[in-house]
Amino acid sequence: MKKILSIPHPFSLYGPFLHNTGFFRYHLNMEIIRLENKENSENNRVLRQKAKPVKNISGEIRERAREMLDIMHRDRGVGLAGPQVGLLKRIFVTHAEGDQPRVFIDPSIIWTSQDQVSYEEGCLSVPGVWAHVTRPGKIKVQAWNEKGRAFTLEASGLLARIILHEYDHLEGILFIDRLDSAGREKVLSKLEKQKKAG
Ligand code: NI
Repeated sequence: MKKILSIPHPFSLYGPFLHNTGFFRYHLNMEIIRLENKENSENNRVLRQKAKPVKNISGEIRERAREMLDIMHRDRGVGLAGPQVGLLKRIFVTHAEGDQPRVFIDPSIIWTSQDQVSYEEGCLSVPGVWAHVTRPGKIKVQAWNEKGRAFTLEASGLLARIILHEYDHLEGILFIDRLDSAGREKVLSKLEKQKKAG
């Protein structure tokens, strides 16, 4: 999920560490996969695919989680899911304002509140587009962190919103899929205009 206000994050938790190891340089050029306004493009195929369980939280997965946190911070996002960087695994990262950076591996949404909240969303894979999406206001999520520890988290407000948005990515669902047809049409014409503008 893309941050709505473009206020830079005051710090990146992993930034200094990654700079020291040279790891940051390695993935600095990594592009986020973007939705294209054409059917069956390679990008769209990746974004629309259901991600597979991680199961084994290896050193490689930990590294990818760190890399995803850094890419998310670099692009001023507040959430990023595996498929958005071509990793078709059930993993996403979040960093809501006022919260710590978090890693969710093989997450399950185990409860959602009855109340529905409408809030403006954006997505790093759908740049330049924002729209109001209605989602449950509170959730409970169960997942594993990058250390392989299971946790359950109750979230509300922006964090709940980000978690639901990122969880959707693991199912191959984008926020624009949750709009009505008029809203979706508006988004697609905006993407078309962006393409023409180059
Ligand atoms: Ni997104």
